[in-house]
Amino acid sequence: MHDEELRKAVAEIEWWHTIDLGRGIVTPGKDNSPEKLRFLRIPERLDDRSVLDIGAWDGFFSFEAERRGAARVLATDSFAWEGTNVGSKEGFELARRALSSKVEDRHIDPTELSPEAIGTFDVVLFLGVLYHLRDPLGVLERVASVTAPGGLCIVETFVDLLHVRQPAAAFYPFGELNDDPTNWFGFNPAGAEAALRAVGFSRVERVGVARDAGGSVRRLLTAVGMAAARSKRRDRPVLAPLERGRLVLHAYK
Ligand SMILES: C[S@@+](CC[C@H](N)C(=O)[O-])C[C@H]1O[C@@H](n2cnc3c(N)ncnc32)[C@H](O)[C@@H]1O
Repeated sequence: MHDEELRKAVAEIEWWHTIDLGRGIVTPGKDNSPEKLRFLRIPERLDDRSVLDIGAWDGFFSFEAERRGAARVLATDSFAWEGTNVGSKEGFELARRALSSKVEDRHIDPTELSPEAIGTFDVVLFLGVLYHLRDPLGVLERVASVTAPGGLCIVETFVDLLHVRQPAAAFYPFGELNDDPTNWFGFNPAGAEAALRAVGFSRVERVGVARDAGGSVRRLLTAVGMAAARSKRRDRPVLAPLERGRLVLHAYK
């Protein structure tokens, strides 16, 4: 594919991931994927390891695993790849072609994952999916089942109730989180850790927590100000930005 042809094809797609395709072409994703990558602490080298990326969407993390030397990478998705909800599979297909990647793909929902269906993997990426699930524990059981003995599962997720120390989860039955009906539960960090232990991971490491309102006083004030404006229109907690953020866990089978 010539540069101009690739540029045109990239411009026609609604991207989630920001992927450097080389030749000076970077996909205009909503997600700051390189920044998220730093937060995840994926092992620098993945040589000889098999990697499963659940909810891969445009595939940034699958292609990164391949770049880090993984022997085999399987990207799976359903919701985004269907093309009728949010996004499509076009970005994944185009990026795979542009990168001459050998990442495999399988259209399968997280609720259907099993060793019989896809096998087991040394490293499992479960990024940005947990809070979208109606049955988070049931799906985490499936995620554990496709993580090989001694394997590593990297979980990145939205978190809520950061002030609560004991395991807990917030419930958003009617789109209370960002008016998005696909958001169901916001575990707190202790809750997410406990859920991973409950489904059979033997050790869970807390790699990072980033508060929505973290970083600077200005960012905090902006976040609280925006929440206050929204709370006038709907029943929203003004201090939610202090309670919410993102979490990364490394869970070992
Ligand atoms: C926020 S995106 C995260 C994409 C990618 N893993 C990342 O971290 O950038 C959520 C992903 O979860 C998938 N997903 C799986 N089950 C879902 C569901 N029930 N509702 C919404 N998204 C779901 C979507 O297709 C999408 O790929």
